[in-house]
Amino acid sequence: MKPIQWYPGHMAKAKRQVMEKIALIDVVIELTDARLPESARNPMTDEMTKAKPRILVLNKSDLADERKTEEWLSFYKEKGIQAIAVDAHKAKSATALLNACQSLVAEKREKQRQKGRRPQNIRALILGIPNVGKSTLINMLAKKKVAKTGNRPGITTAQQWIKTKADIDLLDTPGILWPKFEDPEVGYRLAVTGGIKDDLIDYQEVAVYGVSYLKKVYPDAVKDRYGLEDLEQEPFTLLENIGQKRGCMQRGGIVDTEKASELFLRELRSGQLGRLTLESPELKHVKSEADNKGEAPSE
Ligand code: G4P
Repeated sequence: MKPIQWYPGHMAKAKRQVMEKIALIDVVIELTDARLPESARNPMTDEMTKAKPRILVLNKSDLADERKTEEWLSFYKEKGIQAIAVDAHKAKSATALLNACQSLVAEKREKQRQKGRRPQNIRALILGIPNVGKSTLINMLAKKKVAKTGNRPGITTAQQWIKTKADIDLLDTPGILWPKFEDPEVGYRLAVTGGIKDDLIDYQEVAVYGVSYLKKVYPDAVKDRYGLEDLEQEPFTLLENIGQKRGCMQRGGIVDTEKASELFLRELRSGQLGRLTLESPELKHVKSEADNKGEAPSE
């Protein structure tokens, strides 16, 4: 896959915008994708938000492997990072998240009450890379359509305060936080899930990556969906077999692998191959909250 640019100028701007707002914020809500929780995070977020209570939201959990999501939640808990798994289309996700935010600031608000001050609305900042579901979640929290959702990653650009029905005001992402693609695996995983604009990717290469991952980790999903007896062949040949099974053919009986790639990725992304997770917790990748605060980690 072609290297995808990590625009330093854009990142510096996004960081500056976050830092300008962070002082106003009580809680940071960081969204990631439950199917690839680490690859779908911006690596600067830890550093930018370390001074604030934070909740990590593993969104799109309806598309992720439930067992792996449990593993990820335990993993973050062990690291001292409060995390919840949600499906931003469900109202109960909004309630769970609002409750979590309230409990994160309960102590601070109690102190305000004791000093005779009427607690202000909780001010929360929503952060996350494009296409992770920020607008969808905001709309659910606000119980109305206030943020544009879309199939084009990066659609949320304007910065705005949004009232919710609870005592929480939300600040939408100030600027676009891209993931960091230095590790090509990160780029591939994001591309497989649709987390990168499709005009930046080579469909066929990404589909081959997806087939090869599923062949290893979820072979039955591929066999069942496409009626394949076994997955002995190389991933590219398997992609051709998928194309053949689905009638993605060119003249002369040749499989149209571009078409097959599009079909396979569309089905994978929309959950038609079942609930899939593309990465497992690996302790070395994540710093604990203690690390972020410059303290010695507890382990
Ligand atoms: P963003 O603001 O972070 O860029 O993301 P946005 O809310 O626009 O969501 C990107 C896509 O992901 C949208 O689909 C949205 O419906 C979908 N999505 C968000 N949260 C969830 C979730 O928890 N589960 C599932 N399955 N999908 C989720 P779209 O088809 O690109 O747009 P639309 O047709 O919904 O407008």
